[in-house]
Amino acid sequence: MKKRRSSKRLPPGSLGLPFIGQSLGLLRAMRANTAEKWLEQRIKRYGPISKLSLFGKPTVFVYGQAANKLVFASDSSMISNKQVKSIRMILGDRNILELSGQDHKRIRDALMMFLKPESLKVYVGKIDEEVRKHLQMHWQGKQEITIFWVASMTHNDDTIFPEPWKFDPSRFEKQASIPPYCFVAFGGGARICPGYEFARIETLVTIHYLVTRYTWKLCSDNFFRRDPMPVPSKGLPIKIVPRKFM
Ligand code: HEM
Repeated sequence: MKKRRSSKRLPPGSLGLPFIGQSLGLLRAMRANTAEKWLEQRIKRYGPISKLSLFGKPTVFVYGQAANKLVFASDSSMISNKQVKSIRMILGDRNILELSGQDHKRIRDALMMFLKPESLKVYVGKIDEEVRKHLQMHWQGKQEITIFWVASMTHNDDTIFPEPWKFDPSRFEKQASIPPYCFVAFGGGARICPGYEFARIETLVTIHYLVTRYTWKLCSDNFFRRDPMPVPSKGLPIKIVPRKFM
């Protein structure tokens, strides 16, 4: 973000110890799966905008619908999209996450040629075949499976999604009633995930076969930690029983 000159206009919050700042506290909370509580406490204490220091850098913490809009809808003259050095070293300086303006648009348009819904129609059969092949090879004849829990964004503001902790995936289907920049599992604005529809189809086909071909029972708690993505602490083992008609 562009720097402001006067320190009087800085948001509330302490920068903590030099270099360490609040990094350890946040990482510890993520590991213990209490990151939401950590964030809530911060918002309660300082409001939706505060300053802190994370990973050696002075940082502005922003929260809420307006903040999401600011981040997702700003162009690179306001907020530039820069990855940390290690990510740049792996993905290269010119990867899509580093691009902006016309360069970014050109690459996205190329991706959308094969990720748009009309193109995806052509792959549904192939996705179906791959999922069935995977279940045949890796699930058939087994009784215990460890599943990977995909990263889910928390949308836990009860003024936008009532009872946010209640398991109710259908809340996200009523898209017309969700205010803009509030359901952001796939990001938003010019950088919204181009794999959105692809991921939805693949997930739908996979869940379809899981529920029609198997019943299962969870064999441990479903506690997870963030490392930084959510990882089930015991691997989420489940006992599976193929349904009769197979
Ligand atoms: C459940 C699955 C997925 C989730 C939750 C997800 C989520 C996201 C999110 C949150 C972003 C960041 C948006 C931002 O920077 O503001 C993103 C970007 C991106 N995703 Fe996905 N994604 C998923 C699957 C996929 C798939 C299947 C593909 C490719 C086939 C894909 C390709 C990309 C690309 C290329 C970007 C960068 C877009 C850009 O910078 O313009 N994603 N995704």
